[in-house]
Amino acid sequence: MQDSLQFILDGKIVSLDFQNSEIKPTTTVLNYLRDLPTHKGVKEGCAEGDCGACTVVLGECSSDGKVKYKSVDSCLVFLPMLHGKQLITVENLKSENGELHPTQTAMIETGGSQCGFCTPGIMMSLFSLYKNKNNPTRNEIDDSLTGNLCRCTGYKPIIEAASKSCVNETKDNFTNHEQQTAKLLKSISNESIHLLHTESFGQTKKQNYFQPRSLNEAIELKNNFPNAIVINGATDVALRVTKKHELLKEIIDLSRVEELKTFSENKNEARIGSGICLEDVKQKIEKDFPALFEMLAVFGSQQIRNLATLGGNFGTASPIGDTLPVLMAYNAKTVLQSINGKREVALDDYFIGYRKTLRKENELITSVVIPKLKNGVKVKSYKVSKRKDLDISTLSGGFRLELNRNNEVKEIKLCFGGMAERTKRATNTEQFLLNKKWERKIIEQAMTILEKEFTPISDARSSAEFRTIASRNLLLKFYNDTNQ
Ligand SMILES: Cc1cc2nc3c(=O)[nH]c(=O)nc-3n(C[C@H](O)[C@H](O)[C@H](O)COP(=O)(O)OP(=O)(O)OC[C@H]3O[C@@H](n4cnc5c(N)ncnc54)[C@H](O)[C@@H]3O)c2cc1C
Ligand code: FES
Ligand code: FES
Repeated sequence: MQDSLQFILDGKIVSLDFQNSEIKPTTTVLNYLRDLPTHKGVKEGCAEGDCGACTVVLGECSSDGKVKYKSVDSCLVFLPMLHGKQLITVENLKSENGELHPTQTAMIETGGSQCGFCTPGIMMSLFSLYKNKNNPTRNEIDDSLTGNLCRCTGYKPIIEAASKSCVNETKDNFTNHEQQTAKLLKSISNESIHLLHTESFGQTKKQNYFQPRSLNEAIELKNNFPNAIVINGATDVALRVTKKHELLKEIIDLSRVEELKTFSENKNEARIGSGICLEDVKQKIEKDFPALFEMLAVFGSQQIRNLATLGGNFGTASPIGDTLPVLMAYNAKTVLQSINGKREVALDDYFIGYRKTLRKENELITSVVIPKLKNGVKVKSYKVSKRKDLDISTLSGGFRLELNRNNEVKEIKLCFGGMAERTKRATNTEQFLLNKKWERKIIEQAMTILEKEFTPISDARSSAEFRTIASRNLLLKFYNDTNQ
């Protein structure tokens, strides 16, 4: 177990230890960079993952020896999450002889920047797109930019810059140095990390930050420190630091536990590690679980999905967690593990109250099991929000349907987010629809039952009345979508 962390910045290994240091383990990468004289390009807009001004790219060595690049919001990344990775900021894009990166040249040529505040973050998203997609489609370009807010240029020239430059006909400076970078990354120790930071201003404040390498180690730690806050991508937990200024005393960071990043499947089911980032989950499940894919396509932004995980989405147990209704509709199960063993709990039973689940204090969420659909079963997902991208759900739905040969309902599940204190099924409406004809007249009757099933709240996002009307309309939409 080591008490410092290492990562690459500006082509060199940087080592940080936190004893007698101004920085804490929960100092964000954004704040760390802003304090350096040489990396002021990175900007702070919102400090909560919404504007993308702080976007940086992380390079990581993959099993094939290549370096994979991912854009992330540096305001949500705690420093220890950099261990073993390459941190790339806008200052690193040009080559040693001062030549601009192709994406930078294209931005200049298309006039993609006016006030320029958003530009470094946009450059990093375009750089990530350049490294990941050859000749990206318009959808792929839009998707890569959903996490970057620009209020004065307008996106047209930025999109033009992306399609002009993201043609990897020429190797960029990063490809030229890939082997060297991979070698440097591999030279960084693979050990677990324990950081202890003590701060003394009148009252002594301590912070213990654990970054285990194995699942067993993580489970032991959770058992020994039951009150420790577990993090995976930290996209939820980081806000407690950046917005509420909380001192998180004990943290168990699972972001380096490889056993939680495995994906396996057979003809019956897929098992998704709780620590795989949602962008990678999205790539793997498109064919078998299209309704989950569609939900992930409107989940946060690429910067968020490159960090966020299913473990974290289940861990928040938020009534508006976007993956929950659709996974419930797929009859998914969550796998929980502690020193006492492993158990699988159906999502239908998992949520028991407002942010309350059946998970015991010493258990970790290790994976999610999704059964594959039999022929004839349909699952659809819907998200209602004020904007299509990077917005919190007002309500959401995950619906499942199987009809018999007579067009009668053999099985139905109507799972809603945002309508109650937890993700919840509309069981009365389901009961009503069971064995009935799947036809408009019946659906209209079901809609009147559905509107009495929940008593949603009014909040900043919408009124209770809107939620009730929208939930009825989602049922009608599901009928229209499955009746073609
Ligand atoms: C800008 C922005 C946009 C967002 N957009 C969306 C969105 O569209 N839809 C949506 O649903 N959410 C959204 N979120 C919320 C958040 O990104 C998701 O809930 C995400 O899935 C959390 O995953 P994480 O790995 O980052 O969780 P973390 O922040 O690491 O953890 C979240 C919670 O889960 C617990 N936890 C994490 N992993 C485990 C584990 N393995 N075992 C036990 N407990 C665990 C943690 O203790 C914590 O309580 C957004 C957040 C931001 C900042
Ligand atoms: S500062 Fe706005 S996303 Fe990080
Ligand atoms: S160039 Fe001004 S905000 Fe984008």
